[in-house]
Amino acid sequence: MLNRILFITLCASMLHAQTILSPNKKLALSFSVTADSVPQYQLSFGKRSVILPSRLGMELRNMPSFLSGFAVASVETSLTNDSWDPVLGEVKTIHNNYRELKVTLKQPAVHNRTMILTFRLFDEGVGFRYEFPKQDDLNYFTVTDERTEFALTGDHNAFWIPGDFDTNEYAYFETKLSDVDANKDRRPGEIFTASLISRSMVQTPVQMKSSDGLYINIFEAALVNYPAMCVEIDQKKFVMTSKLAPDPVGNKAYMQAPAKTPWRTIIVSDKAADILSSKMILNLNEPSKIADVSWIKPMKYVGIWWEMHVGVASWNYADVNNVKIGETDWKSLRPNGRHGATTARTKYYIDFAAKYGFDAVLVEGWNVGWEDWFGNWKENVFDFVTPYPDFDVAELHRYAKEKGVKLIMHHETSASATNYERQLDTAYRFMKANGYDAVKSGYVGRIIPRGEVHDGQWMVNHYLRAVTKAAEYKIMVNAHEPVRPTGVQRTYPNMIAWEAARGNEFNAWSSGNPPFHETILPFTRFMGGPMDYTPGIFQIKMSYYDPKKTEQVHTTLAKQLALYVTMYSPLQMAADLPENYEAKPDAFQFIKDVAVDWDDTKILEAEPGDYVTTARKAKNKEEWYLGAITDENARTATAPLAFLNAKQNYIAAIYGDAPDAHWEKNPMAYKIDRYLVNSKTILSLRLAPGGGAAVSIKPASKDEERGLKLYK
Ligand code: NOJ
Ligand code: CA
Repeated sequence: MLNRILFITLCASMLHAQTILSPNKKLALSFSVTADSVPQYQLSFGKRSVILPSRLGMELRNMPSFLSGFAVASVETSLTNDSWDPVLGEVKTIHNNYRELKVTLKQPAVHNRTMILTFRLFDEGVGFRYEFPKQDDLNYFTVTDERTEFALTGDHNAFWIPGDFDTNEYAYFETKLSDVDANKDRRPGEIFTASLISRSMVQTPVQMKSSDGLYINIFEAALVNYPAMCVEIDQKKFVMTSKLAPDPVGNKAYMQAPAKTPWRTIIVSDKAADILSSKMILNLNEPSKIADVSWIKPMKYVGIWWEMHVGVASWNYADVNNVKIGETDWKSLRPNGRHGATTARTKYYIDFAAKYGFDAVLVEGWNVGWEDWFGNWKENVFDFVTPYPDFDVAELHRYAKEKGVKLIMHHETSASATNYERQLDTAYRFMKANGYDAVKSGYVGRIIPRGEVHDGQWMVNHYLRAVTKAAEYKIMVNAHEPVRPTGVQRTYPNMIAWEAARGNEFNAWSSGNPPFHETILPFTRFMGGPMDYTPGIFQIKMSYYDPKKTEQVHTTLAKQLALYVTMYSPLQMAADLPENYEAKPDAFQFIKDVAVDWDDTKILEAEPGDYVTTARKAKNKEEWYLGAITDENARTATAPLAFLNAKQNYIAAIYGDAPDAHWEKNPMAYKIDRYLVNSKTILSLRLAPGGGAAVSIKPASKDEERGLKLYK
């Protein structure tokens, strides 16, 4: 129910400085115009300052800037308190409660040009944005720089990845702001498109912790028709300034009034868990633009995928390097004998999915073009409709349907967005004709249009063009290497889960993801939306596939299970090979059981870089799942089960690290225990270094109650 109360509209003279309080009165946001007519804001949490006076403004191409010369024309405040139900989510209902301050500014020296700053102050933070209403003296304008400042109170501890407009696939650093050095991460060949920009620029979301115990998260929401934002850090004054992804001629954003920027967001609390339970980013996005959402479904899937990453199969059919779409006679090529996406192997996966209750099977490498797909900045790499000679689309459609399993399409664009846009309708029509209703897309490599970057305005629009076109065909989209999501999946719920961070695949072929990686991701990448991280690797060391390999997953097996709960996604892969699951049916049981869509979520404990313990209630079921993970240090996670229905006993199956488990020395040692638990139980879960624990909690029948011990 909408509950919006409009309070005041005041006239210019009264308005120089304004302060609003959050609904719970803990946060205070002040706005003022400085003596030199620059708009600025500041934010405090109780008595503690979070953001010191910070300036706001924009520079424009060939036009007077929106930096200074402002007078306040009017101010409005209002209170909103309502709620909405996400299509898929961590909780059934999301509360949306904020006080809004809308400041209309005029530039008397520039024909009274108007800019509006809108602040929405929630109990857990603030979002603000620039708006440019329709007006006589402002129509088209080009943003060359946004000058949004975040003046921090000191040299906070920060969890960051290097600023880069072409990739987010970095491992995290934890340093003081003054020690940020983006040039540190030089691992050539690991990330296909790494292009570091400046030593002191980092990506958002950036998570910080102040020495007085405040957790501060800076990000953005509702990134639409605008470039993504990184921040440049002044390492002496601790002021962050927005840095936008540029286009090939150095411009940042092309605007036409009426226009608005994404929200700039600051989430703050003295409890780390509050950062993770915040729904502010989603609340700042527009409601669903898709009227009928009945076809948008959560999914657990397996796929012909990890075998390519570990090197036992290939995407390409032949080992040649000069193929051309529309010209090459694929049947005439000599198969390399390692092609993963064959009809037979796909049937094997379909059988596996049907047997163990998975919704879908992803197949990568099914379509022609992989022979020279990467590294040539080639425009027409794939056509998305021509299968290799050993992949029978029609037969697999029939077979999957018979088994009640969906196939997930794969569209690697190799970052040639122009080619992909030309093919979109044909590609989606082909999918529907063959029974596919979800696609994993990919943007590996340098972008075409050449000179554009993954996070620029043109590409931000491209990803959404693909998503909205897909919605016309009732297709869900899982994009890899896109710009990171900013809650836009509220508006387009067919954005089922995106990658946009360093996923589990890096563990297969690079220096990998250090043990603290998954304890940071919820505070950073996951702030914007679900991620296709692809957990569930059981065969941890790559030497299993090739004795020469030293790569490994940097977790224990039990932690791989816990990730299904600590990382929210309505699309979850069981990423390992079927053979590896069938070798460990007892541990595999957790992956079969765990839900992917939820009625409720409790963040029980969390500390960025150290640990996360999360419990979630399955959608429309009296079942709970709990995941606890730690970094490279062993710890004991404490999980009070007070959220359980007090009238009932439950069976908890605890999938934990064996006493001698260790992510590096002994990662695959796990043990499974079963106990009776109830709402008074406090679980104490011993996590190995780099370890974790996963727990399923289901109502116990009378028979089961007799056979099991109460947890103590
Ligand atoms: C990168 C994606 O993240 C990965 O999952 C995929 O297998 C490869 N690109 C090939 O498309
Ligand atoms: Ca990737």
